Order: sequence, then structure tokens, then C-alpha cells
Amino acid sequence: MTDAREVIAALRRGEEPSTEGLAWFAQGLADGTVSAAQAGAFAMGVCLRGLSEEGRAALTLAMRDSGRVLDWDLDGPVLDKHSTGGVGDCVSLVLAPMLAECGVYVPMISGRGLGHTGGTLDKLEAIPGYNVNPEERRFREVVRDVGCAIVSASADIAPADKRLYAVRDVTATVESLDLICASILSKKLAAGLEGLVLDVKVGSGAFMKTDEEASALARALVGTANAAGCRTTALITDMDAPLVPSLGNAVEVDQVMRVLTGLDTGPLLELSVALGKELVPDEDRLRDSVASGAAAERFGRMVYDLGGPKGFVENWSRYLPEAPVIREVTATEAGVVSAMDGEALGLAVVHLGGGRAVETDVVNPAVGLTDVVARGARVEKGQPLARVHAARESQADQAAAAVRAAITLGDASPKVGPLVRERIA
Ligand code: URA
Repeated sequence: MTDAREVIAALRRGEEPSTEGLAWFAQGLADGTVSAAQAGAFAMGVCLRGLSEEGRAALTLAMRDSGRVLDWDLDGPVLDKHSTGGVGDCVSLVLAPMLAECGVYVPMISGRGLGHTGGTLDKLEAIPGYNVNPEERRFREVVRDVGCAIVSASADIAPADKRLYAVRDVTATVESLDLICASILSKKLAAGLEGLVLDVKVGSGAFMKTDEEASALARALVGTANAAGCRTTALITDMDAPLVPSLGNAVEVDQVMRVLTGLDTGPLLELSVALGKELVPDEDRLRDSVASGAAAERFGRMVYDLGGPKGFVENWSRYLPEAPVIREVTATEAGVVSAMDGEALGLAVVHLGGGRAVETDVVNPAVGLTDVVARGARVEKGQPLARVHAARESQADQAAAAVRAAITLGDASPKVGPLVRERIA
């Protein structure tokens, strides 16, 4: 019999909790024996003290085993992608139907917004009727029939993560290599995957701000996942600027639809292809899935089969909610966009109501930023830096100030590296 205080006290002293202690804690998170205060203290303890490689693997497996582990009997590989989190990062919504069109089955268990980053589930819930919590039978049917289904972890898939994720989101304990690793992989391993590609974000809009931190996280994730029997590679990708010029839930779904319907061919498509190639080496096939409209059609079927509108792909803007206040944020001086604080932009969206300040907050799908100026662009005084979509005028004022503070206008263009910085196999 363990007591939550034993595990937390070990962390406080700088000692590693035992494998049994971590397993007990994960089970306690899942069944409610561990209180929210204890979960918060545990998260802060791990964040400050860190775990060893063995401790991290033990926590990951304990969180996986806090619920059920799925298995599949399908006529193609069961594969998936996951991102460590960024701003304007809506790759999952593009890549899942692309992979499905290439013969892959994608049972994608996704998360909600975390800290300053957006969450795939919150984005999907901007689509009226889309049910991120279908019964397992329905989830399996959609994976089998459409090839992809993006849903929340059901109550019995890694329930320890469900609880800890919500606690971390509001206790400033997200930025821990060990907790990110255990959180992502517990869900992915419980989904019964054969293979996985990870998008490890680095830069001002990511949790990992430096190449060293991102590389350490990528190696920890790849090592832990492969050791647990899931063939995994990672790409370390640029998050010094948002991936798309819109940040928020409905406005990011709009960006996804623009890519899937061929209206846009920017970095969102390129990164989706780069990640897709880790799972389906045939690049032409991946690109054709979008160019032919087949991936869009799969996305539309997934939306419909999970409760969304029938003609979503044909007429998405009719269905996505719009904020009542839309305001242009203009530059107060001329200059070149030499840096962007991605975290500050993400937090501006959270404060608009696009994310959560406490676990119980209800997300407003309509709010966010659009037309965010590109890195390296020249702007004159009075020209737009972004457009704020807000529920109220006062919130638009705050967001406008945050956007101005987050965008640095200087004399010189920034040095922009490649979208994919490194591959970890
Ligand atoms: N995604 C997750 O599922 N968990 C994290 O901790 C970070 C990103």
C-alpha cells in the first residue's frame, strides 16, 4: 500500500519514486484515489526534479496501463502522428485523411489545448455536431470504414493522462520532458499502434524553446516508444512562427480546409507531407491524395460519421462559427518582422477564450487571430499585423496589445531555417 505523499515526498527530496510507486500513482490518478492537489504537486515535482530514463519509461507504461490497450484486426497498417504542441499547428487534421487515402488506418487519439498551444479536439469541436467522444464501437467502425477517426481518449484509454493533462494545463507544469513523454506515449501506446511519427516542435511557440531541449525530448520519445514495441521516428520542426497565419479553433479548421481543397499549398501541406513520408514513403501518393480531392472527401466522411454536417467539405465556412468582433491590429511603426513570440500569440488566443485558464473553462470556438503577418515581411506604419476575432470589444483590445507586443519589428530580416530541422530515428 502506497500513499500519494510518499511518491511526492520522494520527488521533493530529489529521489526517484519506485516503479511500484509510479504505477500506484498512475492508477490513483485514474481511479480518483489521488486528489487534484496531489496531482498538481506530483506534476510540479517531476517538472522540477526530472526522472531518469527508467523512471520516465515506468511512468509512461504505468499511465498506458491505467486503462485499456486497444488491438486491431485490419487489412492495413495501424499508424499515427502526434505533435508535442505548437501554435497554428493543425497538421493532424490534414495528415490523418491523407494517410487514410494511402491505405493506412489512423485511430488518432488527440488532446485538448495545453498551456499556450491549441488542441486538435478543441479545433474539431468547432465543427457543429462533431463528437470527439464516440463509443468505442463507433470509433472502431469509423477507423475501419473511413480509415481515420480523430477522437478523445475514452474514459478507459490512459485515464491517468486525462486527469494529469488537465492539471498540467493550469499549473504551469507542461514543460517537462518526462511528463510530455509519458502523456503522449501513454495514449499512443494504448491505441495499439504499429508505428508512429512524432512532430517535435522547437521555438518560441513550442514547449521546447531550444534545439537542445527539442532534441532531448525527441530522443526520449523515440527511445521510449521503440522500447515499448511501437516503431517510431521524430522530426524536429520549426515553431518560431505559427505554421499557418490563423490561430484559434474555427479559424484553423478553415486553414485545414483550404489545404485539403487545394486552395493553399503553404507550410501546412509541406509539413504534412514530410511527416507522412515517415509512414508512407511514397511522396507522390501522399501529394495525390490531396490534389485529387480524395483526402478532403475522407475528412468529410469522418466529420459526418462522427456527427458533423453532411456537406462540410463543400461549404465549410457556412458551418464554422464567427466571432462578433473582428478587429484589425495595425503596426504603430514601420519595420521588418524580425521575431515573433509564438507563446505570447498562443496565450492571446487562450485569453480571448480560445483555450482554458482553469480546467472547467468552456472554449469559445469562434475566437482567435487571422492574417498574422509572416516572419520577414515588411510592414509600414498603419498596416495590419493581424486580425483579432473576439467575443467582446474589451477582449479585442487586450488581444491587440498582446499581438503588438509579440511581434518585433526591426531593420533586418530574420534568419529562417528549414521547416524540418532534424530527423531522429
Ligand atoms: N501532447 C500531449 O498529448 N501531451 C503533452 O504533454 C504535450 C503534447
